[in-house]
Amino acid sequence: MRVGVFTGGGDAPGLNAAICGLGRRLTAQGAELVGFRDGWRGLIEDQVFPLDGVNFQHLLTHGGTLLGSSGDNPYRHPERDVPKCLATVAKHKLDAVVAIGGEGTLGAADKLWTQHQLPIVGVPKTIDNDLSATDFTFGFFSAVEVVTRAMDDLRSTAESHSRVMVVECMGRHAGWITAYAGVAAGAEAILVPERPAHLEELCANLGKLRTAGARAAIVAVAEGCRVFEDGKCLSSMDKDEFGEFKTGGVADLLARKIQKRMGWESRAVVLAHLQRAGRPIAFDRIFALRLGAKAARLVLERRFGYMAALRAGEVIEVPLREAVAERKVLTGQFLDRYETFFLPISTP
Ligand code: F6P
Repeated sequence: MRVGVFTGGGDAPGLNAAICGLGRRLTAQGAELVGFRDGWRGLIEDQVFPLDGVNFQHLLTHGGTLLGSSGDNPYRHPERDVPKCLATVAKHKLDAVVAIGGEGTLGAADKLWTQHQLPIVGVPKTIDNDLSATDFTFGFFSAVEVVTRAMDDLRSTAESHSRVMVVECMGRHAGWITAYAGVAAGAEAILVPERPAHLEELCANLGKLRTAGARAAIVAVAEGCRVFEDGKCLSSMDKDEFGEFKTGGVADLLARKIQKRMGWESRAVVLAHLQRAGRPIAFDRIFALRLGAKAARLVLERRFGYMAALRAGEVIEVPLREAVAERKVLTGQFLDRYETFFLPISTP
């Protein structure tokens, strides 16, 4: 068999481990693996990344993706780019394609399977952990580790200067990273896109902690969180060229508002792409390896239109359409549970 592989969307620690799992299992069965550069762009523009002779084992410990990635998507201009993708697959006589990516990448994979019967298999990837049909995505726990350690470290300087440190995490629509890292680091407030953050309530909560003697406070906020003051939304409602809400700036907004309203010196720290940088933690290496090996098995068994997924500790396959049906966000039950047992998550 000749199998093509590419990595699409925002990169994540573990991508190379997934390629390693896929490559080792396929080559062990005598199959050939051909890489394509920079996500869907590699198929649209026929940009091959030769993988013959690559020592897949060495990929395991490296962050990022050997193949490169991009946000390109053939369904942005389907009439032009879908035929180009199909032509590239035919030109290289590929028996199957493996798409490693998030909702955008896998959404296009599902359409190419259902509309054009392209023999494709998906591997879920995003630090946001917002893909349905899988308990977690690789890269998520590596990102949580980065954010947790950052908050732990920031607490010392916050306490030295009796300050509030507002830490902005990635997560446009889902606050998984913010919630997990915020709880792990003992953040005094956790603000997520799933629930509007009201300044009045946030400052009242912080005020109670300060009165009780707290010298410092860590406020964990997701970049997509909407901040309200006197019922008015202060967060950016602008959209970018892809129709996504423009994010960024919420930590700076909150730090300024907290300092102004409470007179408590505040600073903003935006972790941005540090959350996607560096080597994967061991859990994500093994997790991604398992997903890559599962994708290889699906290809070898010619079970197309599926995505490898994690369910209750087992790696299984789920239909791609199920994976991309709806975004997995923090449920009210989850937020209530954490609010009750751990921290004052901002409530409506
Ligand atoms: O989807 C993953 C993600 O890291 C988001 O959390 C973040 O908002 C976005 O990608 C950043 O995208 P870019 O790398 O294009 O700035």
